[in-house]
Amino acid sequence: MTDRYAVFGNPIAHSKSPEIHARFAVQTGQDIQYERLLAPLDGFAASVREFIRAGGRGANVTVPFKLDAYALATELTERAQAAGAVNTLSFDGEAIRGDNTDGIGLVTDIVANAGQAIAGRRVLLVGAGGAARGVVLPILEQAPSSLVIANRTAARAQELVAQFGGRLQASSFDDLQDEFDLVINATSASLAGDVPPLAPALFGRHTLAYDMMYGKEPTAFMRFAAQHGAAVRDGLGMLVEQAAEAFFIWRGVRPATAPVHEALRLQLLGQ
Ligand code: ATR
Repeated sequence: MTDRYAVFGNPIAHSKSPEIHARFAVQTGQDIQYERLLAPLDGFAASVREFIRAGGRGANVTVPFKLDAYALATELTERAQAAGAVNTLSFDGEAIRGDNTDGIGLVTDIVANAGQAIAGRRVLLVGAGGAARGVVLPILEQAPSSLVIANRTAARAQELVAQFGGRLQASSFDDLQDEFDLVINATSASLAGDVPPLAPALFGRHTLAYDMMYGKEPTAFMRFAAQHGAAVRDGLGMLVEQAAEAFFIWRGVRPATAPVHEALRLQLLGQ
């Protein structure tokens, strides 16, 4: 029988996950079905339990349910604990395993796909919300020479520093004036077409400026960074890589991500 998977969110119609997993399945010869499921805002756990009863084997979880998924899981990986959020669930008898593949998705896209090492490099993470927290541990595991976090609301950046035991430093935007090797935008500013208040001096020709958001056009952050000499990249590769890691957790097979990334990019550009 075909194994069932799904992505839960609200809204969910826009999710690219079914298409990504369908492409992975064809490529690797895995017999799976993967659907979109709209859960009511107050009914995530009930929706997941119903899916498990109907034979679901695993699920991805997107906005706004990553914290609900964390609470629902009966087991959590270290990276899910560090993220405080779950984007991948696996169902095994009574067990509901929660993992978070967002951070490893980001790291793989930067290191393997963009060819930019994180080890030994100066890294700036902009933002201190859920998206930022989700990627801190996998970045630290790459052993950057420093990881600085800057956020509009300083107290949230301090909370992250406290959680990770001083392995990163918080800074105000005003105090940041030196060039970084890697600047990651984990804020939601791009959704509103805004750029966080970053000094041009943070960017140079050795800088990769990475926006975790993506769209048809480069984000305002990417345009600003490019104007000041940085190489830029959006989060489409991270989306594909986090999906590939989930696929691996469920199926034990690693799909090739480049052709899927390319197909999604062409689609995004309307070609
Ligand atoms: P997410 O789960 O996407 O991280 P979130 O937890 O609401 O969502 O966090 C949004 C992040 O984007 C926060 O770091 C927020 O800064 P504050 O903590 O000060 O709210 C940041 N953010 C949103 N809009 C921004 C803007 N226009 N400029 C700078 N930072 C912004």
